Amino acid sequence: MWAGVVSIFPNLIRTVLNEGVVGRAVARGDLGLAIFDPRDYAEDNHRTVDDRPFGGGPGMVMMAGPLSASVSEARRLCPTENPVTVYLSPQGTRFTQSLANELATLPGLVLVAGRYEGVDERFIERETDLELSIGDFVLSGGELAAMVVLDAVARLLPGVVGNPDSIKCESHMDGLLDFPHYTRPREFDGDGVPDILLQGNHSAIEEWRQKQALCRTWLKRPDMLLGKELSQAERAMLMEVIDTIGETS
Ligand SMILES: C[S@@+](CC[C@H](N)C(=O)[O-])C[C@H]1O[C@@H](n2cnc3c(N)ncnc32)[C@H](O)[C@@H]1O
Repeated sequence: MWAGVVSIFPNLIRTVLNEGVVGRAVARGDLGLAIFDPRDYAEDNHRTVDDRPFGGGPGMVMMAGPLSASVSEARRLCPTENPVTVYLSPQGTRFTQSLANELATLPGLVLVAGRYEGVDERFIERETDLELSIGDFVLSGGELAAMVVLDAVARLLPGVVGNPDSIKCESHMDGLLDFPHYTRPREFDGDGVPDILLQGNHSAIEEWRQKQALCRTWLKRPDMLLGKELSQAERAMLMEVIDTIGETS
């Protein structure tokens, strides 16, 4: 995959993207990355990218021109045709794991981070394919949102996460939350580890983990189970889990 990020704070993007999974993906060439600063495409010597809103009111608005020119340059440099252009916005579709899964299949992506009061509406209408929000709150800029999206997408690319199995059973991948994890020491401040994990019976461990995933989802995010089709075995397990919780509460 190739991704272009449009932002007036390129160093902020670089700092985040040099680290962790995304940094590794870029270093290994699994993810091509380029950053475009709208100030480089401004039409005046002051590198102006914003102006006062028509109609008055507080704050500044990012101008369509430098943003459009940045996106055009990103499209020109993208090694594949027609990268999907995403504007990060609190007004966008809520970003979810299933959207991350979809974006991870794309060959090219351009992420546009706004600032100030937002960006000129004509830029959104003409240049973007999708608006994505990372939650119902307002950030001061789209950079962190763009990095959230890119991180969630990059870790799904083939070869980026060491063991692909670790991705398959993570929270939200199949409509459930992840099961609990434990590591050494075997006893921490008087708290042990569930016996079943120490007995080496892999099918029993698998069943325990499935039950735990169902149990946690039921307790922490019951809304997720409403939209999920459960197999007969999962349904039986869930009933068992609910009975156990009922008995212990
Ligand atoms: C202060 S916000 C502008 C908010 C805009 N006036 C509104 O109320 O819809 C500045 C920039 O931050 C980014 N942003 C803010 N909240 C976001 C969110 N929840 N998800 C994605 N991007 C967000 C957008 O790129 C936006 O252009």
